[in-house]
Amino acid sequence: MLEHTSYAILPSEEGGTEEQVHEVGAVESVKWNGKVVEGTLTEGTFFLYLLNDQILRFSVHPFEKVSADSTLAVVEDEPVKDADFSESDAEFFLTYKNLQVTIKKKRLSITAQRNGKTAFQISGVSFNKDKKVFGTFEKDAKTPVYGLGEKSGFLNKNGEKITNWNTDVFTPHNKDTVELYQSIPFALIHDPGETTTGVFLDNSHRTGFDMQTFKDRVRISAEGGPLNTYIILGEDIKDTIRGYTTITGTTPLPPQWSLGYHQSRYSYRSEDEVREVAAAFEKYEIPLDCIYLDIHYMNDYRVFTFDKDRFPNADNLIKELNERGIDVVPIVDPGVKKDVEYPVYREGVSEKFFSTYIDGSIYCGAVWPGISAFPDFFQSRVQKWWGHLHGFYTEKGVRGIWNDMNEPSVFNESKTMDLDVMHNQDGKLISHREGHNLYGLYMSKATFEGLKELIPNTRPFSLTRAGYAGVQRYSAVWTGDNRSHWEHLEMSLPMIMNLGMSGVAFSGADVGGFASDCTPELLVRWTQVGAFLPYFRNHSVQDSIYQEPWAFNEETMRIVKKFIQLRYQFIPYLYTLFHEAEKSGVPVVRPLIMEYPEDKEAIDISDQFLLGRDVMVAPMLRPGQTHRSVYFPEGTWFDWWSGEEIDGDKYHLVYADLETIPVFVKAGTVLPVGDEVRNTKEQQRVRLIAFSNGDRDMRGQLYEDDHVTYNYQKGEYVLTDVVLSSYGEMKTNKQGDFESNLVVSDIKIIGK
Ligand code: GLC
Repeated sequence: MLEHTSYAILPSEEGGTEEQVHEVGAVESVKWNGKVVEGTLTEGTFFLYLLNDQILRFSVHPFEKVSADSTLAVVEDEPVKDADFSESDAEFFLTYKNLQVTIKKKRLSITAQRNGKTAFQISGVSFNKDKKVFGTFEKDAKTPVYGLGEKSGFLNKNGEKITNWNTDVFTPHNKDTVELYQSIPFALIHDPGETTTGVFLDNSHRTGFDMQTFKDRVRISAEGGPLNTYIILGEDIKDTIRGYTTITGTTPLPPQWSLGYHQSRYSYRSEDEVREVAAAFEKYEIPLDCIYLDIHYMNDYRVFTFDKDRFPNADNLIKELNERGIDVVPIVDPGVKKDVEYPVYREGVSEKFFSTYIDGSIYCGAVWPGISAFPDFFQSRVQKWWGHLHGFYTEKGVRGIWNDMNEPSVFNESKTMDLDVMHNQDGKLISHREGHNLYGLYMSKATFEGLKELIPNTRPFSLTRAGYAGVQRYSAVWTGDNRSHWEHLEMSLPMIMNLGMSGVAFSGADVGGFASDCTPELLVRWTQVGAFLPYFRNHSVQDSIYQEPWAFNEETMRIVKKFIQLRYQFIPYLYTLFHEAEKSGVPVVRPLIMEYPEDKEAIDISDQFLLGRDVMVAPMLRPGQTHRSVYFPEGTWFDWWSGEEIDGDKYHLVYADLETIPVFVKAGTVLPVGDEVRNTKEQQRVRLIAFSNGDRDMRGQLYEDDHVTYNYQKGEYVLTDVVLSSYGEMKTNKQGDFESNLVVSDIKIIGK
């Protein structure tokens, strides 16, 4: 405990010694096989190739022959066939279309030019005696940095030192808590109005992005393995995210019910309590799509069981709720209780499904169920086994699973497994030191693919706490154990925006705050924000005050309900944005800088966000606050509530009492808005609201399908583009012939 007192800052020799590093040196030899340049260095080996005219892969291993393997993050990675390779005395050149990469021989460095302009420069690669590798690239001191996954702090990560090691952090979540549950070693270096370069360091060891120590340089590092990078040279942030998600995949279109309002608590402890919660939603006529079952549903926290006393008839409960339009999502953690009479444990042992030390002995650690074993999700056969175990839930009507504690979290000093536990990637053994950051990703894969197989032609919902780059292909992400602190409401915005810029379009924070006690005002303000974020779940810890919509008083409930209802009105628009995210990788929630990449004023805006391109949300983030300054990017905006017209390229002081969250829509937008519904299972008619654009056209889009199956992939959808001229002529263009719920005749026009 002494480290929590002044003892922690005992006098030291300030500065200390700088970490000693060694350069990889000169390029000693090079081979070009028509696709890949491979070479040896004074220390180690490297390769380089181009994936297209926007992306290059460059990998250096100072200690061994560098392998072409990438992690599970990568789904597409093929060198182009027709790049040109040439050589001069001092350099090698690799060219494809308008991309030219130059490798300097004397001291390895790489420069990438697009259209004759230098877009990226790796000026050095080095290592230390502990096998840590470093890469240094040039960056102007002021150029902002975004992405980097789920990090605390503000939007722009320039000037920070970030490391990635999946960690279960109950407390604290603040600027100094750099390592949280997810590791996404992908940064966007955005030069406003010029280019955006994406740097993806695909290495699952603990990695680092140091934007602090060196002026005009960023140093990336990995505590083992190669410096394996994908460099994406984009025109702007969107273009670079598109590039990144061609490599790591996009967020698949979720089932629509997963975008509705979700209610959770650690835990609703019995069937009766779950029924009471559902009944309260019905009684107060508050829309609801889903209730969660946290760990108390299990028999002594054994996954794939129900506690006979608390949940004697889970089948009936789930069936009954499903019939009322409510999905049930149970939590599933990776720890399997060590109990020789528990079939999951027995099977895991006898089939060698658990993670083991190199001598074959099973690693055990303590989690909720006590001493537990941990599936080795790195093996395909373990993924299959685990996936199929979910039949226990799906046969009862479950279509969604919540994965938690999958960093993996273990209740010990290191907070996780021993680093010398081994994982078997279908034949290739890696240590936990290397595999740690991938554990959650592999578990998400097992869950998602298992559900997909068990519930045919149904899009599963899977939610995960831990993950690595590429996690978006399998799961939505929530930001873990936040608190009912206003600061955490505020911090959730840049966190979710940066997750989006790291490929994860489907994310959210526990509404109301997980730990600590919520207040009526905080619940209102947080629900207002949650209503506009991709994932919308209210969740709270045991022993904290209850924070269901009705928990405080009638007034609070009335306002909370109003915003849950508003969420449902926005679902058609939100769902259309998810369709776009699946197609292009561009996230649902975007920072202003993404849509206005040249606007320097937008660089640091963390407390406003855009839902899609045209809806801007500027929440109240402090108790008692009813006024705030809002930045409006160029153009004209409309106040969602009053219809008032607002000039952009300016700050305005905006008023919003507790009944209101400031929301603005860009002039020229045609917004699809749904009718009030009880949940997404009810048929919802969609109408259009057009926001006038002077004498220019107004435009909008609506994507529709059956909300649940994969039939949309066979063409059963309808994508309607609407163009409305200033004199009232409407043109619609439809792709696909799925029956639409859009009522085009009933259009409301805001503004002149
Ligand atoms: C972890 C999760 C939290 C959950 C709790 C009990 O703290 O982050 O959401 O409620 O475990 O399962």
